[in-house]
Amino acid sequence: MCPRSVEVDGELEILPDKATLWRTAADCVADLMREAIRRSASCAVALSGGSTPQEIYRRLAHPERASTIEWPQSHLFWGDERCVSPDDADSNFGMAKRALLDHIPIPAGNVHRILGEWPAETAARRYERELRDFFGAEPTSPVTPLQKGGIRFDLVLLGLGQDGHTASLFPNSAALEERQHWALATQVPGSGAWRVTLTLPVINSAANVLFLVSGRGKAGILRDALEGKGPDASLPARLVQPDSGRLRWLVDTDAASLLGA
Ligand code: 6PG
Repeated sequence: MCPRSVEVDGELEILPDKATLWRTAADCVADLMREAIRRSASCAVALSGGSTPQEIYRRLAHPERASTIEWPQSHLFWGDERCVSPDDADSNFGMAKRALLDHIPIPAGNVHRILGEWPAETAARRYERELRDFFGAEPTSPVTPLQKGGIRFDLVLLGLGQDGHTASLFPNSAALEERQHWALATQVPGSGAWRVTLTLPVINSAANVLFLVSGRGKAGILRDALEGKGPDASLPARLVQPDSGRLRWLVDTDAASLLGA
């Protein structure tokens, strides 16, 4: 069962250790997917990348959870992708495939991956078309709530980068201002590596946004993300403020070690 939460900007739940975080997060994801399917006979989830969700995807694939989810009615998308081939160690799709997709009876047509092996701009445009086709939106309409022919993920999973980025929305980047496109090509500051990412309005139109943060290494940035005041382009995670959806942070004690300090 999703745990009782403490009010901050959204809801914060601090779990005693990594294993409890992974188990609780997997239960939470399974709950939300079942709920969405009960409510509307289908669910759309945007998976996050990076290292934190891997163990959570593994636990979601465990039979006791996976058998309770109607995968034929579940659609999996990605919040972002690195522009590498799917079998590259850095591929977010590749990680989710090994940890989850290879172990669940999800139809291939329900897996909507970002083609990281394509040039970033082309991959972003193609991903946007796929999103608009799936949510039944006009080719060029701006990001609008689902009821106005727009988009509404049942769940968007997010991580928190050391610099406060989330998905592939980096500090002080032009991508943070985007209001028209649903997906964009972005570059990692410093390395210039290309990424494709969902845009903020798409993330903020979700019914549920779940941040997963683990480890002492994230304590400083988590404190800034949760205790900082007001929206702050230098810390994109603070710009994740769902329009009408539920925002939750599931973190472990190590990551929470500087909160309230
Ligand atoms: C990515 C992610 C990114 C990630 C954070 C945290 O593709 O890298 O989507 O936003 O969630 O960088 O990454 P870790 O979980 O590896 O710390």
